[in-house]
Amino acid sequence: MAENIDGKAIAGEVVEKVTSRARELAADGIVPGLAVVIVGEDPASQVYVASKSRKAKECGFHSVQHSLAVDTPEDDLLALVETLNRDPAIHGILVQLPLPDHIDTGRIIQTIAPEKDVDGFHYTNVGKLGTGALEEAFVPCTPAGAMLLLERVRGRDLSGLSAVVIGRSNIVGKPMANLLLAANATVTIAHSRTNDLPAVARGADILVAAVGRPQMIKAAWIKPGATVIDVGINRIPAPERGEGKTRLVGDVDFEGAESVAGAITPVPGGVGPMTIAMLMANTLTSACRANGKRPPAL
Ligand code: GUN
Repeated sequence: MAENIDGKAIAGEVVEKVTSRARELAADGIVPGLAVVIVGEDPASQVYVASKSRKAKECGFHSVQHSLAVDTPEDDLLALVETLNRDPAIHGILVQLPLPDHIDTGRIIQTIAPEKDVDGFHYTNVGKLGTGALEEAFVPCTPAGAMLLLERVRGRDLSGLSAVVIGRSNIVGKPMANLLLAANATVTIAHSRTNDLPAVARGADILVAAVGRPQMIKAAWIKPGATVIDVGINRIPAPERGEGKTRLVGDVDFEGAESVAGAITPVPGGVGPMTIAMLMANTLTSACRANGKRPPAL
């Protein structure tokens, strides 16, 4: 039976370290500041944003949330980002995605000052990650959190191990592949157009699932003893819990995979809680950099 990687507990440890370092900084008059911006009323985004703002407060940060109407003009959002760029009390700016269709997402993201881009989506941070300048980069929170979970099982050096990332998104798949490469893994990025995906997946000592398809990855796709990191969060009907009820599942068929993998992240309670924890860590890092302090090791 696979070891269950407890993301909730590990995220808790990260948040504890961040909170304790924030307390030390406060003694020097430095308070990390996070601004979260949301446009529109998407219920899932509202929940995410509220929990990001709340966690920032729990960490002792200065936390501000800007909730804008769904029909906010692009220029108004740009102006807000520019104001936050100039605000010395703000060290991290997060614009929740997706944005409404009338707004050019790329234009907004590239307007965020790279040194405040705690999402790690700006070209400058993407480039730093891609060239291995990890100490200077902001790494996107979900893959950064997934790496921390992987480290607990496999250590920091993945030399000689083959890693397969299923999914090629800019938010997860591509940065995850770069992080694995930086840790010396031999990396394959697979996706919906890959031939014989099960066979490719079966070659993986480390399998990262980030496709957004509920329970797509079956036990037969997994190499015995592999470490499986499930980044998927999918809501599916759960009639067994009552009419109209739903439940969260990952991209991996957990029940099947558990008997083959060496270690696996559950959904919920795996990568999910790590995302917010890493956002707090990135915001703290930004405040440290802005004040010539060393960010804590995680
Ligand atoms: N929407 C879903 N995930 C994310 C994320 O990591 N950052 C932002 N800004 N929006 C998201």
